[in-house]
Amino acid sequence: MAHLIEKTTEKPTPRSDGKPERGVELPHRAGWVGAVRDWIEERTGLFGFIKHHLDEPMPPGVGWWQTLGNLLLTLLIFQFITGFALAMFYAPTPDHAHESVKHITENVPLGAFIRGLHHWGSSFIMLVVVLHILRVFFWGAYKKPRELTWLVGVAIFQVILAFAFTGYLLIWDQKAYWATVVGTRFASTVPVIGEWLMHFLRGGKEVGALTLTRFYAIHIMLLPVALVLLTAAHLYLVRRLHIAGPVVPQKGAPQPFYPYQLFRDAVVVLVGMGLLMTCALLFKPPLYPVADPSGTAFTPRPEWYFLGLYELLKLMPPKLEVLGTVVIPGLVAIGMILLPWLDRSPSRHPAYRKWVIDVGLIVIFLIGTLTLKGILSEPPEVIPQSTSVSSSTTGSR
Ligand code: HEM
Repeated sequence: MAHLIEKTTEKPTPRSDGKPERGVELPHRAGWVGAVRDWIEERTGLFGFIKHHLDEPMPPGVGWWQTLGNLLLTLLIFQFITGFALAMFYAPTPDHAHESVKHITENVPLGAFIRGLHHWGSSFIMLVVVLHILRVFFWGAYKKPRELTWLVGVAIFQVILAFAFTGYLLIWDQKAYWATVVGTRFASTVPVIGEWLMHFLRGGKEVGALTLTRFYAIHIMLLPVALVLLTAAHLYLVRRLHIAGPVVPQKGAPQPFYPYQLFRDAVVVLVGMGLLMTCALLFKPPLYPVADPSGTAFTPRPEWYFLGLYELLKLMPPKLEVLGTVVIPGLVAIGMILLPWLDRSPSRHPAYRKWVIDVGLIVIFLIGTLTLKGILSEPPEVIPQSTSVSSSTTGSR
């Protein structure tokens, strides 16, 4: 029995190079706080881990543009928290979804505010993720050795788009319903597997109860798991490879992340979150009448971040709609995936990667113009009953 009551004297296995774990030694602190800290540190290495990351040296010239990643992270964490709070009151069935959202907005304490944070949060996330991608693009920070960081980022971007698409239907109002009818119809234009894909997404021929169940399951289970895993991988790679720094290396000593960059991050996060909260307080998220699949007149307009795609489809003649639904978006996605290998210039400076910057600017200009056109254009007044994508998106009746 002695071995069972014997006090363990086991020490953590030292690193083979003899250095302390994570290369961090913490100053000793007296008193019971110090004792508790030492106890946790000995078992988890938590404080050493945090200190190691706070001390991370940043190349000279890293500044405000490099704060967008952490703003995005904060917005996503808030989105998880507000999504969880909403799920406490939300009922994912056609009979109750709309009613439960109405109840959240009108009766639940802070319900309208939480719903506002989640609703406007998705727009903020979309805006910040695009700014983050643009910053990485113009800095050429996707180049060796950061190709994988970029690729994981591209996957994250797809997950964020899928979050937005699946979340849209959940409130089960007229706008959500008809936008999803049009959105899922796009799937049917995919060559060969199109009809099957649309059927799979909808859980049947029409958008109905099973579509809502599927979108809800994807929105609250599949996508969060994917996003958490991908974000963890992304942040691991960012820290492992360090931030790229300015395109023209600057003179001077590297600065530790704390307090310099952390201060900038804190300012940007506080301003960003302040703006989001102001939006949530001032602008109530819309809730149209409950979805009516029998086909009353309503505008199937997507959110602003999908308007570029929507306008592109309006430009396509019916026979060529596959260009707008599959070919052009597919080319943009493939271009993003292959970017680190397409751009063969050894320099990160925009002047030495002229064609990449030019193509990037053209794509940005086209997406921007189409989105702006969508925002400014009058929506069609009636939901077309035709099954063709182009007639439904153009609003031709
Ligand atoms: C969950 C979403 C994301 C989070 C939380 C995130 C977070 C971050 C953070 C904290 C950094 C370092 C600071 C900064 O550059 O802002 C960073 C850098 C980077 N991110 Fe993201 N990011 C996300 C999405 C994306 C996306 C969608 C892409 C590209 C498609 C991307 C590509 C990169 C690259 C290549 C770097 C390295 C930049 C450098 O070394 O200068 N990230 N990210």
